Amino acid sequence: MTATHAAGRKLKDAIFDANQACNEAIKIHGADKVTNATIGVVLDEEGKLATLPTVEKIFSSMDFSELVAYAPISGLPAYLDAVIDLTFADNKPTAHFGAVATAGGTGAIHHAIANYAERGDAVLTSDWCWGTYNVICVETGKRLETFKLFDDALNFNTNDFAVKVDALCKNQNSLLVIINTPAHNPTGYALSSDEWDKVLAVLKAQASAGKNISLLVDIAYIDFAGEKNSTRAFMKKFSDLPENLFVMISFSMSKSYTFYGQRTGALIGVSSSADVIDEFKNVGKYSSRAAWSNVNRGAQALLVKLAADKNLTPIYEAERTKLYEMVKRRADVFVAEADSCGLRVVPYKGGFFIAVPADNPAAVCRKLHDELIFAVPLKLGIRVAACSTSFEKMHGVAEKILRAM
Ligand SMILES: Cc1ncc(COP(=O)(O)O)c(C=O)c1O
Repeated sequence: MTATHAAGRKLKDAIFDANQACNEAIKIHGADKVTNATIGVVLDEEGKLATLPTVEKIFSSMDFSELVAYAPISGLPAYLDAVIDLTFADNKPTAHFGAVATAGGTGAIHHAIANYAERGDAVLTSDWCWGTYNVICVETGKRLETFKLFDDALNFNTNDFAVKVDALCKNQNSLLVIINTPAHNPTGYALSSDEWDKVLAVLKAQASAGKNISLLVDIAYIDFAGEKNSTRAFMKKFSDLPENLFVMISFSMSKSYTFYGQRTGALIGVSSSADVIDEFKNVGKYSSRAAWSNVNRGAQALLVKLAADKNLTPIYEAERTKLYEMVKRRADVFVAEADSCGLRVVPYKGGFFIAVPADNPAAVCRKLHDELIFAVPLKLGIRVAACSTSFEKMHGVAEKILRAM
């Protein structure tokens, strides 16, 4: 009964499948025996969902009508202002800005792909990437192409990035590029300042050749990547860009506020042209009306309250830093043990996940089930969730992966 373009679509979710297998093992062996390295949320050392007390306190003190009322389609104006300030911290580039509230970071990515890539055109991202980019491309009539994120020495592959951008620009008048940094899912990689310069030089060259270039920076995990201003320093590089090089940043409350299911985020536009920003706000509002109308008012109001409260903000930031440090400690164990046993790991710099390149990730993950370890098999390797694996259970995982391989 579906329309022809929707026929046969079925979400293949490797993460869900791995998590289901893990839950079955938990039923048989008990949670304390099983290592669940599949989940993309922070679990505490007891395996429970980690939340931020200050966020919970503000949310539960809010007026019921504030939680359930409609919000403006583009978002509460104070929310959009707060989102822009929080996104850049002290690293605001010289540019015009605009923002539209979205249903999580996913909604922001949806709007960028829906409005800044032509139907039938390719959108470019890295080969190690979050699978949802492809789902959104297919849903909106675009296709996803990839460049190799790493060269043979596991350094950022500037060369392949440039080759792919140039090849696509031979056949397209415009190009949308998606880069997920810092704390990339699934590798934990972050572009260095030097790598950013090279990426921007490639895109500027295409812009000066007359192509319309859009860059979406997915920062979903930025608050799990390190110190606030050093992780955002690259944003200064978006100053005074050519008018036909448009930068968007997808902001999400899911990880930074442990607000995963409250579905609140924003797409931010950065341009040297006020007209480009006006157009961005108009098309974003239009897409929101079509996709979900308006976004969770309570979550937006919470962020406004928290951002405006000079006493609560440092407390919230300290709670969030504690979660970041907990995840980092677990990842550090994995990376150190991988190093000492000789397991090759993609360079991890921060974030929820670590990636192990493998020839047959599904077979390795199946073999790991014998050890009651559950990780996610991706196309290029295995994703190990440091966010959900306790410090204690992380010990020995690297060596067991090596043995399974
Ligand atoms: C790479 C990446 N980008 C964006 C998101 C957006 O998440 P949400 O829609 O919950 O904000 C996620 C969530 O898993 C992600 O992994």
